[in-house]
Amino acid sequence: MKNLVKQSEYYLETIQKYKKDKKAIAHFNISNLDQARAIIEVAEELKQPVIIGVSEGERAYIGVQMARKIIDELNQEFNIPIFLNADHTYSIEKVEEAITAGYDSVIIDAAKLPYEENVALVKKAVDVVRAYESKSGKKVLVEAELGYIGQSSSLNKAIPEGVTEANLTTKEQARDFIIRTGVDMFAPAIGNIHGMLIDAPEPKLHIDRLKEIASSVDIPLVLHGASGNSDEDIKNAISSGVSIVHINTEIRKAFRDGEMEFLKEHPDEVAPYKFGKEGQGEMKKVVRAKMELYIK
Ligand code: G3H
Ligand code: ZN
Repeated sequence: MKNLVKQSEYYLETIQKYKKDKKAIAHFNISNLDQARAIIEVAEELKQPVIIGVSEGERAYIGVQMARKIIDELNQEFNIPIFLNADHTYSIEKVEEAITAGYDSVIIDAAKLPYEENVALVKKAVDVVRAYESKSGKKVLVEAELGYIGQSSSLNKAIPEGVTEANLTTKEQARDFIIRTGVDMFAPAIGNIHGMLIDAPEPKLHIDRLKEIASSVDIPLVLHGASGNSDEDIKNAISSGVSIVHINTEIRKAFRDGEMEFLKEHPDEVAPYKFGKEGQGEMKKVVRAKMELYIK
């Protein structure tokens, strides 16, 4: 029987080990159990830890506490560490809800706010989490974003409004932000965007900017919005200092495509476990390719 409170103590240590080895841990979002199993089965085959993320919308669908219970059960069933992240959380109230439910990490996302307001909200979230840690004895990691990269894991016709080169994170702001907020992990904007462009290649990542940031800060860096980015860009980001890579849209699409293809050929099929399996199969191909890339 795994001791999950103990496991959470090794979360930061695990990330730091990947940082040192210039590799990355995979973070994938889920909306349901089919997706969770697909990701975890691949992670187990590759003997890799994995972070399962649930955004506010995904948590509302699965249930905040149910997501924790599902991951607890899967942690006992599988031999790899599975961490649970409360992804993109926009209010202190939702931060409290997630940490009270026992999530291993939380992302307070105030990236859309002006700089000083972002710092203030993130600092407040860090204080809330630290108070919870002293009360509960459980370690919880806090991550925040600086520089707007859009908010939705969807197929997009254009770059999300508000994402501009002028909004890329600078090394000076990254340093100031991390010192003033006390976050454990930091997600910069380096040309990455949430979601995927339908008719155009994803913008290239600004690897030089990432290198500047990585050499100015000590805490682990997280690449969000990695759906659609080239393998070369992702690999360069990892060797330049990224320790966690977030993917959602690409696996959502693979899952949807797998089910859709099957249902096109079997329009009278009504058993969800039959078309769910096809969704899982397509999704597993993407998960495997990404995870192999991160540890190559
Ligand atoms: O936190 C979630 C990720 O940043 C997902 O981004 O949908 O572009 O892969 P993505
Ligand atoms: Zn994200």
